[in-house]
Amino acid sequence: MGAQQVRERFTELYGAAPEGVWAAPGRVNLIGEHTDYNDGFVMPFALPHQVTAAVSRRTDGVLRLHSADVEGEVVELVLDGLAPGTDDDWTAYPAGVVWALREAGHPVTGADVHLASTVPTGAGLSSSAALEVVIALALDDLFGLDLPRWKLARLCQRAENVYVGAPTGIMDQTASACCEEGHALFLDTRDLSQRQIPFDLAAEGLRLLVVDTRVKHAHSGGEYGKRRAGCEKGAALLGVDALRDVAYDGLDAALEQLGSAEDAAEVRRLVRHIVTENRRVERVVELLTSGDVRAIGPVLTEGHASLRDDFRISCPELDLAVDTALAAGALGARMTGGGFGGSAIALAEASAVDTLTKAVEEAFAAAGHTAPRVFEAVPSPGARRLG
Ligand code: GLA
Repeated sequence: MGAQQVRERFTELYGAAPEGVWAAPGRVNLIGEHTDYNDGFVMPFALPHQVTAAVSRRTDGVLRLHSADVEGEVVELVLDGLAPGTDDDWTAYPAGVVWALREAGHPVTGADVHLASTVPTGAGLSSSAALEVVIALALDDLFGLDLPRWKLARLCQRAENVYVGAPTGIMDQTASACCEEGHALFLDTRDLSQRQIPFDLAAEGLRLLVVDTRVKHAHSGGEYGKRRAGCEKGAALLGVDALRDVAYDGLDAALEQLGSAEDAAEVRRLVRHIVTENRRVERVVELLTSGDVRAIGPVLTEGHASLRDDFRISCPELDLAVDTALAAGALGARMTGGGFGGSAIALAEASAVDTLTKAVEEAFAAAGHTAPRVFEAVPSPGARRLG
């Protein structure tokens, strides 16, 4: 949805033009899954799909919210009444950001907001992080808070963890806030240090396809939290702060150490995924920086096997998308995001895109699954003011 359209609708709804229009993108994670709450490495890039927000300040302690994507009237909330766990609707995301900003002592006195999103929801593409980040950036600008991007991401994560109640890591919000066009973001989630890694697929004659399986996922459900708790248990049993601290060449020793512990088999699998996944992120960074883009394919595919067999968060539709893409010539493929549905990605030669897309669509039809949505992901800009 264009900035102009969002601006005009705001004016219709609220009777005056907005002070500004901002956008924040969804993301695809190239590699580094479930590592972000283990102080590990991730490597997302921003999608062209984004949430656009037209926003004006208010001074009377009221937040008014409207979304073009949700049927309904303007929702009016009183800032002093905002409290974690009181809202299970979409409004909890923007309201949670306002709550987190105010709780951190920032003088946000109210706002009128109109939103429109092109990020598919429930597809593992971070539609909620995009929604949080666009609000945080708009309020940061309008109230002159001058917060660094990483801090905006932290506040958005707090909104999601505490206000919405989903125990997610820091990757999605940082991706939406900090990604740059033509790059993937190599992020160390321990200290939030970042490196922009050039990722110009088109120049290499390559494409990255996203297969949205249309199987909806949610992180406030129990499975994500269970994996997180299992990883924390593994770290405690190994006597480290986080699984990030288990070195790749110390993995065998760590697994052996876990051998006799209660529930050892499950914790061992979780630990193995996190430790090998951190190594895969480092490997992909090495390959991309040395210009060997095609060679990341098998690393992505290994990552999928690890998520399917060790972390156990794939599902039949994701496995079918990955297996079919590989059989149709993809250089590599994996599920992306939190799992239990959502999307897979496939790296392919530009010339293979049509065959691959058709193969995935046919395989889904033959298996009786809902038709997937297949589209190309181009590394796009992070959150920004549009006007
Ligand atoms: C979701 C969470 C992220 C991250 C991924 C898995 O997208 O929001 O913090 O944990 O799952 O890598």
